[in-house]
Amino acid sequence: ARPDALPRDLEGRRVVVSAGGTREPLDPVRYLGNRSSGKQGYALARVAAQRGATVTLVGANTSELPDPAGVEVVPVSTAEQLAAAVRDAAPAADAVVMAAAVADFRPATLAEHKIKKTDDMSAPTVPLTRNPDILAGLVASRPKDQIVVGFAAETGDERGSVLDHARTKLKRKGCDLLVVNAVGEGKAFGTDDNTGWLLSQQGLQWRIPLGSKSRLAATVWDAVGELMRQPGQ
Ligand code: CTP
Ligand code: CA
Repeated sequence: ARPDALPRDLEGRRVVVSAGGTREPLDPVRYLGNRSSGKQGYALARVAAQRGATVTLVGANTSELPDPAGVEVVPVSTAEQLAAAVRDAAPAADAVVMAAAVADFRPATLAEHKIKKTDDMSAPTVPLTRNPDILAGLVASRPKDQIVVGFAAETGDERGSVLDHARTKLKRKGCDLLVVNAVGEGKAFGTDDNTGWLLSQQGLQWRIPLGSKSRLAATVWDAVGELMRQPGQ
């Protein structure tokens, strides 16, 4: 074997990756969205396929990105569509990685016509409603030994550091692994490099050095592969 050959440790494994950012329509021409580019999820899908996995990539508004070779891409737009696509694919998967940025809220109603402004300088209020927590749903209904990975983009605040928030989120979400990106000040969104931590439910913690999104993807699959080899932990 070539010394630089990628491991084929995901051969025979089926994985689902979500990527991109959901868009929640307000009227026929407007939506609430976020800054996720989808590049990290695409790197995860590409690397998994290169390592032998059968990959389903659920891409939320990622039509600008080329489909990774050998990967089945399911295009979606809203959080509810993403939830349905992930729910369809997840039961057969050995691992599910939720790299997509899912809107927590959507406009409570979708206006049938374009919302127009009026002459009195007033502005409308947009009532929002909660979207389903897809990751929490996955964890609650997962088949035995399925590995579930979440992503968190965090900024520190007066209540705690990036890592404090991430550990709390890992416990709350109940997934096996949580990838934490420090965001703000031009970090992570839309860039080709990512940095952060990988936290495991068992309390392990790895610092992810600044590097490409492919590197981060490889680190995630290394950890997932490790957990797959020790089922029932
Ligand atoms: N996620 C999800 N469904 C949602 C929101 C988030 O599946 N409705 C997933 C994301 O794909 C990600 C993980 O949950 O893998 C963490 O997302 P994040 O927004 O950091 O978590 P939240 O629980 O929404 O917490 P916060 O209030 O900080 O946004
Ligand atoms: Ca959120």
